[in-house]
Amino acid sequence: DRRLGLGDLAAKKAAGEPIVMVTAYDHPGAQIVEAAGVDIVLVGDSAAMTVLGYDSTVPVSVDEMIMLTKAVRRGLTKPLLVADLPFGSYETSDAQALATAQRFVKETGCDLVKIERGGTSVQRARALVEAGIPVVGHVGLTPQTATSLGGYRSQGRTAEAALALIDDALALQDAGCALLVVEAVPSEVTAALMPLLDIPVIGIGAGSATDGQVLVFHDLLGIYDGGAARFVKRYADLRRAAIDGVTAYADEVRDRVYPAPEHMYSMPAAEAERLEE
Ligand code: KIV
Ligand code: NA
Repeated sequence: DRRLGLGDLAAKKAAGEPIVMVTAYDHPGAQIVEAAGVDIVLVGDSAAMTVLGYDSTVPVSVDEMIMLTKAVRRGLTKPLLVADLPFGSYETSDAQALATAQRFVKETGCDLVKIERGGTSVQRARALVEAGIPVVGHVGLTPQTATSLGGYRSQGRTAEAALALIDDALALQDAGCALLVVEAVPSEVTAALMPLLDIPVIGIGAGSATDGQVLVFHDLLGIYDGGAARFVKRYADLRRAAIDGVTAYADEVRDRVYPAPEHMYSMPAAEAERLEE
């Protein structure tokens, strides 16, 4: 299958055909989501929590994200690949953002980079786009700055907050963003936003009016223990399946059931006899 391009996303939006986006953080994950036929794969900085064990997305480094993105790239052929620029790697100046984004493009082969928020990120997005790097914006709940948003909670719940969010979205589109992620906002905000935007909008906890949806791999497959956000739907229980599998292995080792003869190598009989002599 040929590699998807930004034109394919525009065509899907124009045709009213939903765009499917999901995260991946490693090579088998990339192969799984590609085999499932998704359109866009995001190496999200949610990797900080899903695969690296940090308690927020803030601590993850550029080097860590680059290693994960390279592994995903090697597992993908068709879908578009987006990489999250981590917290602290793009906010300071256009030059900082460009240096970071160029590292991602050169070292990982990602197709687009994603940055969070409106505000100063609007100018950062413009600078990256002008340098030829396609950018995904991200508004609503922006986990990198969740503390200043009052925690991991839905955004745009007052008319004023909703209008500010819509202003940010329009500014990001105006800056040249190719795509916009909208996270954790009331469906009414999305409904007000959608007629104003020409670029494809991908929602997560933003209702059904967006051009597509994104979910975190580990959330939708049930790899995580514990509670998930309201917008998460679990489509599998891989954690349970994995625990059952490893437990069965441990039991069979302890019971000397594994390995069985079919898991063993053997010598030609003549060689075995010579060995015994
Ligand atoms: O890091 C991430 O997984 C994301 C998506 C939830 C949009 O940014
Ligand atoms: Na992210």
